[in-house]
Amino acid sequence: MNKKYLIKNGTVVSAAESRKADILVAGEKIEAVGVHLECEDAQVIDAEGKYIFPGFIDTHTHFDLDAGDFHTADDFYTGTKAAACGGTTTILDFTTQEKGQSLKEALNVWNRMADGSSSCDYGFHMSITDWNDSVKEELKDMSLLGVPSYKLYMAYDNLKVNDRELYEILSAVENEQGIIGVHCENGEIIKAITAELKAECENSVALHPKSRPAEAEAEAIHRLLVLAKLAGTPVNIVHLSSSLGLQEIRRARAEGQKVFAETCPQYLLLEDSVYDRPGFEGAAYVCSPPIRKAEDREALWEAIAAGEIDMIGTDHCSFHMETQKIRGKDDFTRIPGGMPGVEHRPVLFYTAGVKNRKIPVEMMCNLLSERPAKLFGMYPQKGVIKEGSDADLVIWDPDKKWTITAENQIQNVDHTPYEGMKVCGMPEKVFLRGCLTAENGEMVRELGGRYVYRGKRQL
Ligand code: URP
Ligand code: ZN
Ligand code: ZN
Repeated sequence: MNKKYLIKNGTVVSAAESRKADILVAGEKIEAVGVHLECEDAQVIDAEGKYIFPGFIDTHTHFDLDAGDFHTADDFYTGTKAAACGGTTTILDFTTQEKGQSLKEALNVWNRMADGSSSCDYGFHMSITDWNDSVKEELKDMSLLGVPSYKLYMAYDNLKVNDRELYEILSAVENEQGIIGVHCENGEIIKAITAELKAECENSVALHPKSRPAEAEAEAIHRLLVLAKLAGTPVNIVHLSSSLGLQEIRRARAEGQKVFAETCPQYLLLEDSVYDRPGFEGAAYVCSPPIRKAEDREALWEAIAAGEIDMIGTDHCSFHMETQKIRGKDDFTRIPGGMPGVEHRPVLFYTAGVKNRKIPVEMMCNLLSERPAKLFGMYPQKGVIKEGSDADLVIWDPDKKWTITAENQIQNVDHTPYEGMKVCGMPEKVFLRGCLTAENGEMVRELGGRYVYRGKRQL
């Protein structure tokens, strides 16, 4: 049985407001939130001068992902530990249906990988890669099994669905009141440009962003939004990276469409000069979509400030430089795509957004916790500090200054895209369903995570 905790004098943050209040935690749940709470048998924690956020939710991780000849550097064990140490108490990873596989089989595979290995709570978006009538029948079962969200790809030959399938899946998932996130890049044009670049130029990491231009993202977003309009469904644009893509979302919203958008720390903090770093260093930043120009980064921050972005996920997909990214030394298209971030997302957003760009903490709470909980069917179990909610809590020290380094990270990977970055803010204490799980970036109690049965979308 968990202990009781009385967290006193902190500033409790929600998407709507911040207020001074005490929180009583009993077992896995929040028992009360109010002023001057007392409880004789609870351990008292003084949170004076600290923010208390509902545990952060990362809407986009890839742990233990098969990249052909190897798996991602982080599996559920290391990835969820890193998440919890950074203040993230729930992650949503991706199960990918293999060709010929049922969705239930795919879900079982991923549940086996995560079950008993996770230090934060977890759920799965289902990636449909092989659409047919029996898969359509399975959507109801997915709802019953707590999977209301899906991911579809418009790029990658082994994963992508065609426009007809996209349209049909959008309509079918709408019957379940679920939500589809889409990887929006035009895979065919990327193949054509890549072939041209390979014929013309010497191999170089700098070709990666050229091979996947912002136009390829914007065209795919445009086409998806036309299909979603025809299907009469909302849709979620995952890992939005470009100003051109954002304009497509704005246009559709202005015409009355319901469109959700997720972006990631790498698109908010980095710019495409990372690909010009000496030697093979730029490979660390190979991800899809690629890191864009400074103008794109600024456009995304403006969109955040204007309330046009719904979520910040990481797309955490880590590969070691020394043994994995190196596969693409002589062919940039063979560099496994993806970068780490699950551990540092809250502090990166707090530093770059709240401290440097004066984004309100309430907005940070909305983007990193409350809105994902609502969109992905977990609210108010997750995403809010409220009587009866899971006691997933982050006591956040707003003044702690430190430096991100690969050497000191929990993520099981030999680099970080944010090496040497000076940051502000620290998850001083992280509670997962009432258990003290991490303190000052270190693990206190591992393997406490479990599967979250999610319901219909709530937005
Ligand atoms: O390069 C990336 N982002 N790899 C992860 C898979 C994806 O497309 O989200
Ligand atoms: Zn993607
Ligand atoms: Zn991804």
